[in-house]
Amino acid sequence: MSEWTDGLEGVVAARTVLSEVDGEAGRLLIRGYSLDDLAGRRSFEQVTAILWAGFFDDLPGDIATVLGRARREVFSEIVALDAPLAAHGPIEAMRALTARLSDGDDLATALRLVAAPAVFTAAALRVRAGAAPIAPDPALGHAADILRMIRGVPASPAEARALDAYLVTVIDHGLNASTFAARVVASTRAGLTSAVLAGLSALKGPLHGGAPGPVIEMLDGVGAPGNARAWLEAAVDRGDRLMGFGHRVYRVRDPRADALKAVTRELADAAGSSLGRLALAEAVEAAALAILAERKPGRSLATNVELYTALLLEALAFPPSAFTCVFAMGRVAGWIAHAREQVAGGRLIRPQSVYVGPRLAA
Ligand code: ACO
Repeated sequence: MSEWTDGLEGVVAARTVLSEVDGEAGRLLIRGYSLDDLAGRRSFEQVTAILWAGFFDDLPGDIATVLGRARREVFSEIVALDAPLAAHGPIEAMRALTARLSDGDDLATALRLVAAPAVFTAAALRVRAGAAPIAPDPALGHAADILRMIRGVPASPAEARALDAYLVTVIDHGLNASTFAARVVASTRAGLTSAVLAGLSALKGPLHGGAPGPVIEMLDGVGAPGNARAWLEAAVDRGDRLMGFGHRVYRVRDPRADALKAVTRELADAAGSSLGRLALAEAVEAAALAILAERKPGRSLATNVELYTALLLEALAFPPSAFTCVFAMGRVAGWIAHAREQVAGGRLIRPQSVYVGPRLAA
């Protein structure tokens, strides 16, 4: 065996009924639905049920009720959330609390795992700010309850709708790095909690779900639309990667970028707030695309999901340190579906490596 593909680019490692990423056309299909038919049209709970159909025998039609109950169940784990754990940062604190959940493979475990990033992130943010965690309200929709648990007061319907559309937009996306990590762990027949922990750990890195926090640093660094070209050129000259641009599969604009830009605009309109930050992001986007086309010709580096994720989550008043946690709140439903699919029809994932080290003399 001597063939080797850097980063497994182009390697097909799973067959899935869950989602299809068409990198040439810039299209995302989730269980046969286009993203446009789901985001803003069906709730996160409804799309989770669509994604999980066929993977749990006892899946009820109404996931909202059982997910609300699961949020209340996992809230008991926050007794372990002390100040040193909260000081680690929201993603580490949330991951550590998630690791306390039992490692089953049933629907109850799956629901608790979807509840976990929402409930634990909210609690971690509050403890970090010196405030007491707020218990979930099982009667609320998932998105509305997330915002309430963080803020202590109910979110506006427009804000809850915007977060709900975001969670649906990122729910699943082919065999991205975190989903692959979750499938590898599931292929060993470890439980769903182990698979989700693998997904969380892979998501955290800045080349994957850790990008939107640095997007805010980039926008703050640029400061005003007129500075975009010079600031971004200097960054590329230093060898930095421009966060929110480039993708392993998309050769054109990521369709999720437009979906989230529209949601951000609607949110600003509903709140009657200024679109100044959106104008800055648009200027950064135009300059970045021009610079990347000049400096990396032939790469087709386009806008990915993270530029407008950052803008939307900032508009919803999430701190940048929690952006990856919010991504996980949506993607966790996809990891679970992939883990179940892997166990149902896949073999142990065990690729090979090419040895390039020294050999003992004969
Ligand atoms: N800014 C500057 N240069 C870039 C960027 C970028 N955003 N993206 C790729 N490149 C350059 C690389 O430096 C490399 O150049 P070189 O060969 O001269 O060293 C080349 O383009 C590699 O391009 P690809 O093969 O297309 O990149 P790859 O598939 O390995 O990486 C990735 C994809 C990680 C997303 C990359 O584009 C990147 O780092 N983007 C910035 C981080 C980011 O936005 N991450 C979120 C991705 S979306 C998600 O995971 C949810």
